[in-house]
Amino acid sequence: MSHILLIHSSVHGYTQKICEYLKGKLEAQQQHVTIAPLSEVPELAKFDKVFIGASIRHGKHRPALYQFIEDHRKELESIPSGFFSVSLVARKPLKNTPQTNMYMQQFLSQSVWQPKLLQVFGGNLDYQGYGAMDRNIIRFIMWITKGPTDPNTKVEFTDWQKVDEFAQQMIEA
Ligand SMILES: Cc1cc2nc3c(=O)[nH]c(=O)nc-3n(C[C@H](O)[C@H](O)[C@H](O)COP(=O)(O)O)c2cc1C
Repeated sequence: MSHILLIHSSVHGYTQKICEYLKGKLEAQQQHVTIAPLSEVPELAKFDKVFIGASIRHGKHRPALYQFIEDHRKELESIPSGFFSVSLVARKPLKNTPQTNMYMQQFLSQSVWQPKLLQVFGGNLDYQGYGAMDRNIIRFIMWITKGPTDPNTKVEFTDWQKVDEFAQQMIEA
């Protein structure tokens, strides 16, 4: 049994929801899992493996993510680790792999930590959960990218089977 740490960089809680789902899958396979937000990460030395999930907001992962990685590079590199990115772009079949997703490529070009296990997941869209300005910006992006623009849209674009596979890869890492 491994003690696994799942860290999330989440603005509206959806990446945290994916972490909670992963925790359920991992615990069903006798793994011991702790979830922590990026702002309250426990000492990494207590864990056998560490994984970070981070969402995209206005084209970027949060700057605090890169700061955390720089501050903890040695620990992250010394145990099995991985990273996943959550975004609306990742709902698109041509942008839903680490190789084809521009946010993952951006992450790899900016991060001093280069984890082997990588994945991208489609995020959620909840227009009524956003302020008016964000709602309009995202509706415009959705219009350009041929996504839903109805202001009452509330949808999860996550492929949960892909999340299941990631959980298995975490166990094998
Ligand atoms: C204000 C805002 C800006 C966003 N910008 C982008 C973006 O530039 N590209 C994208 O693919 N998704 C974008 N998204 C979608 C989020 O990445 C997606 O909803 C994700 O599930 C959010 O996860 P979180 O709740 O953990 O932060 C944006 C969402 C919000 C609310």
